[in-house]
Amino acid sequence: MNTPLTRREALKTGLIFSSAFLTAGWQSRAHAAGPRTDFGKKGLHFLAVGDYGTGKDAQKKVAARMNEFAGKLDAPLTSVLALGDNFYNKLDEARFERDFEKMYSKEHLGCPFYACLGNHDYGPKYDSKQGPAKADMQLEYARKNPTSRWKMPAKWYAVEFPNPATPLVKIIYLDGNFFEGAMTPQEKLDQKRWLEAELKTGSRAKWTWVVSHYPMFSDDKKRQDSKTIIKNWGAQFQANPISLYLSGHDHNLQHLQVKDYQPSFLVSGGGGASTYELTPSERGFSKQVFGFNHIHVTDERITVQLVDVDGNCMHAFEREHSGKVRVL
Ligand SMILES: [Fe+2]
Repeated sequence: MNTPLTRREALKTGLIFSSAFLTAGWQSRAHAAGPRTDFGKKGLHFLAVGDYGTGKDAQKKVAARMNEFAGKLDAPLTSVLALGDNFYNKLDEARFERDFEKMYSKEHLGCPFYACLGNHDYGPKYDSKQGPAKADMQLEYARKNPTSRWKMPAKWYAVEFPNPATPLVKIIYLDGNFFEGAMTPQEKLDQKRWLEAELKTGSRAKWTWVVSHYPMFSDDKKRQDSKTIIKNWGAQFQANPISLYLSGHDHNLQHLQVKDYQPSFLVSGGGGASTYELTPSERGFSKQVFGFNHIHVTDERITVQLVDVDGNCMHAFEREHSGKVRVL
């Protein structure tokens, strides 16, 4: 049995909850209903999905549900945020066509997919002997196929939506592969300097989000919080007005709010690889399920929905520019 935050604790962390939340806790707020799709023409729509690159049945089902959901929205998607572990096992040229271009229908998913690298996108520690060449192939595919939806301009980069001239959202993509055989020491240093400069410069965009494969905080039963990610980026996440941190790696869906940290933490690792068990906590909502996230953003607020493979909205929340979070 989980103890929900007391009202005092909730107020202390700067969050505002509905009375139902305060009495029932996060875990019991299951939404049997379908996700909301009537947002009108205003704002931008994103989907986020991670840990999908198996080529198998579960990936196909989640991909089909993403397409169906996007088709119901009043406005087209701006982008899909691809959260890493894009290709499990050996990667060859044919898989870009089979497991990406054909997998995600252009019918309603015809937008750019901005991707980051997961641990399985490097190897050889994981499931291929390709090593960093596997990451290089993904960067090269983006470079050689500029008309493809596959976008990976670098291992770390920033992108602004709807465009750099009048940005509403700036998304900073980071490479969290600090393990031996992945990023080189020089790359780690270069990324660190780049991130510091990027956050110092700020942005004209109203919202700043960060994307990387690895969760900083997680209620995953085996993995839990990442000491490495906290050590590398934790101070930046406390000091800077980052509203969302999106990651995958843990094969489940989570929304956590962590004291003293600015972002809402989303783990969206339900894209197709077999799911992982959770130890739910009072920090938020989590569920062991295949699925994806939908994010709608306007000048005033962000609305996030956690959607499972069957098309149910399991959890949803709004976040205002002030940082106030309201569970819906
Ligand atoms: Fe992973």
